[in-house]
Amino acid sequence: MKVHHLAMLAVVCLQALAAPARAGEIEVLHWWISGGEARAAQALKASMQAKGHTWKDFVVAGGGGDSAITVLKSRVLSGNAPAAAQIKGPSLQAWASTGVLASINDVAKAEHWDELLPKVVSEQMKFKGDYIAVPVNVHRVNWLWLNPAVFARTGAKPPSNWDEFFIAAETLKKAGVIALAHGGQTWQDLTLFETVALGVGGPEFYRKALVQLNPAELSGATMEAVLSTFKRIKPYTDKNSPGRDWNLATAMVIKGEAGMQFMGDWAKGEFLAAGSLPGKGFICTPAPGSAKAFIYVIDSFAMFKLKNPANTVAQKDLASAVMSPEFQEVFNLNKGSIPVRMGQKMDKFDDCAKASALDFTAAAKSAALLPSVANGMAVSSAVEGAIKEVVSQFWNSDRMTPAEAMQKMVSAAKAR
Ligand code: GAL
Repeated sequence: MKVHHLAMLAVVCLQALAAPARAGEIEVLHWWISGGEARAAQALKASMQAKGHTWKDFVVAGGGGDSAITVLKSRVLSGNAPAAAQIKGPSLQAWASTGVLASINDVAKAEHWDELLPKVVSEQMKFKGDYIAVPVNVHRVNWLWLNPAVFARTGAKPPSNWDEFFIAAETLKKAGVIALAHGGQTWQDLTLFETVALGVGGPEFYRKALVQLNPAELSGATMEAVLSTFKRIKPYTDKNSPGRDWNLATAMVIKGEAGMQFMGDWAKGEFLAAGSLPGKGFICTPAPGSAKAFIYVIDSFAMFKLKNPANTVAQKDLASAVMSPEFQEVFNLNKGSIPVRMGQKMDKFDDCAKASALDFTAAAKSAALLPSVANGMAVSSAVEGAIKEVVSQFWNSDRMTPAEAMQKMVSAAKAR
């Protein structure tokens, strides 16, 4: 046999070994279409294709995923669920309790997920002891992104507390720059609001008011201060902000049209995808007053019960691929988040990610690790929706007082 025949034979044998028992189709619902998000999603697609499976995108546009979940509900109700869907936080339990999710315990047991994941994460991925979802990453919400060139040009100083923030915002505004790039969509309004709530009220207030929905905290003096600070930010946004997508707001900072943006670190994925480098094109700094605390979002894929056995093989391969160290690295380098798998090497990650990883661990020890309300991690989707409405109404209204907003917030907390 000639040498190249031998080589060919070797390749064929290797392919046979690498190919799964049965190649299946994997349909995945997500909303990752902006620059950094799309690059991250592509990494997932590639890892499935490498295993011989067919990837089917089920994309519903809309940052934060509200539209995606609405479409998912109707697909599942009509008996046509995808293999996996980007579902997070308490919604995982809600979906699992309807009986549509599949257990992936065999994969999780074989790969020792219990030992590889922080407990706060593994608990959320399980329903009645069975893994029904696989976690992808850890995002931090309480970041402020700023353009250092714009700061240098205008003489503004990067802020670390709210007084400094308003001084910087005023300096930028006077220099004719949009101080804060904001996208006026309800989930972004609430993302900003929860960041202010943490920075002004602190971790304990955040937990009592926004996670435990304690009526006294939702309507007390601290909440009033949070609402006033939140509203004070509005004049530093531009008149075109209503309806703007979050990634377009990030683009304003990238281009130097705006000085700052409050956003979770999926914004970092945008900067990187645009070729902007940390410390040079952009700076990440914890949102004012929140340096030691951490509002988290953990993206995860819930697995649906499937009829076709080949697709079930593909589904389990997806779960396994997502938890692999290689995938955790490449995906999170693109997404702006950090690996959810513990003990992962961070040498390829930038300083923002390294800080995030250290702060995540420190915050967990000091009770300052908090779930994001705006991004589906803290409360039921009904309560989240109701709170979003109140916060956006307050942000947009010229007349609503903090007292009225607080009253509405207390009712929103009772939404079913
Ligand atoms: C969040 C999600 C992130 C990011 C963001 C903007 O809810 O957790 O992964 O995609 O929405 O779309």
